[in-house]
Amino acid sequence: MAGRKKSLGTELLSLFETVVRAAPGWLSARPSTDFPTPGAVVSLRRAGWFEALFGKSLRPVADESTTRGLEDIPSDEVAGSGQHAASSLPTDACAAPGWLSARASVNFSEIVAADGYHLPVFPAETEEWMAAGPGKFIIDGTLGGGGHSEIFLKSGARVLGVDRDPEALAHARARLAHYGERFSTWEGNFSQLLETPAIRQGDLADGLLMDLGVSSRQLDSAERGFSFMREGPLDMRMGPSSPRTAADIVNKWPEAEIVRILFEFGEESKARRIAGAIVRQRAIKPFTTTLDLADFIEKTIGRHGRTHPATKTFQAIRMAVNEELESLATALANASSALKPGGRLLIITFHSLEDRMVKRFLKHRSTEFLDDPGWPEPRPNPDYQYRLLCRKAIAPSAEEISLNPRARSAKLRVAQLLHPKS
Ligand SMILES: C[S@@+](CC[C@H](N)C(=O)[O-])C[C@H]1O[C@@H](n2cnc3c(N)ncnc32)[C@H](O)[C@@H]1O
Repeated sequence: MAGRKKSLGTELLSLFETVVRAAPGWLSARPSTDFPTPGAVVSLRRAGWFEALFGKSLRPVADESTTRGLEDIPSDEVAGSGQHAASSLPTDACAAPGWLSARASVNFSEIVAADGYHLPVFPAETEEWMAAGPGKFIIDGTLGGGGHSEIFLKSGARVLGVDRDPEALAHARARLAHYGERFSTWEGNFSQLLETPAIRQGDLADGLLMDLGVSSRQLDSAERGFSFMREGPLDMRMGPSSPRTAADIVNKWPEAEIVRILFEFGEESKARRIAGAIVRQRAIKPFTTTLDLADFIEKTIGRHGRTHPATKTFQAIRMAVNEELESLATALANASSALKPGGRLLIITFHSLEDRMVKRFLKHRSTEFLDDPGWPEPRPNPDYQYRLLCRKAIAPSAEEISLNPRARSAKLRVAQLLHPKS
């Protein structure tokens, strides 16, 4: 439990930051944002995101039998002091063989050939579970190269592609231009989805997809500074709305904050050693490039096994630069206001912290009644909003992993917004 709390006790640096519109050359105008002032750093939990996602009314349940038959979340995995009691879990058989009737309709080799920018994960599963089609309006909250958007467009749906990366938006706009007015884009953080003109005008979506993390293009572009294998500036911003660069964190953040992000976001057991060494080294000469940092980490902790010793540090810094968990928490809390009743929410994660957050959120929001040993009977959950279309996370097929090794750690979770009770 302590570990769980710790993993959720991440920092909220700026949940509602203003989205900075893309300006030409944003990448060269790197922000010099320093570490936020202590007053601006509040714990995500203190800032109320936990209550926003999971509600205040969860309380401990003594009778474990009330949770039997639900998704196999060990009781200590349920954050906060409570436990879920009853849930509207689906009876569908999405894990059963042959359940994915649409699998054959997606041709992997066609997708590979279509675009070298980014290979979308779960192409068949997103097509199946989004159930897009003519007359439907789908928001792709993580447009990237436009691979998932194209799947929805091909089905006849209207698609709004959202991304915080102007380069991704430009690429996808060119790629998908032939779909005409059925495809539009919005530059910004998906945490601010409610500010898109469509939603502001009441054009709610039949589906929302969030395919988290960075695209292959971002990762492979040396000048974006995401890769510890390629020489580039210590940047790692997904777009101009990211409030700081990797260099700001490495060269300016207090040692304790670097330790915290390495532990929390990177699950790096050598966090203290790495952070201490970085702080001593930067006093002699600040870090400027990806390889500067990657080589220094390798010298500091050595290389054991095939994984590069800087892998976890780079991941942690990237998540902090882009405030990835904070954006996800806000987007989850807002998703129901962007969807029509019956609308579908599809979330693809690659990181255990993100998946845990999504899993707990959906679990809580799909639980109709809460129970507590002190209550005479279960009570309605005021946050009950969704139906899980799949009890468990969907994993990629062996075929997909062989064609796209980056899909290895992907998980897809699917839910449907309930119709309001009349
Ligand atoms: C994994 S890629 C998505 C790939 C896409 N589904 C495709 O088929 O090409 C993630 C994309 O989402 C964007 N992104 C990540 N977090 C975001 C956020 N909080 N708001 C907006 N865009 C985000 C990244 O810039 C990146 O382009």
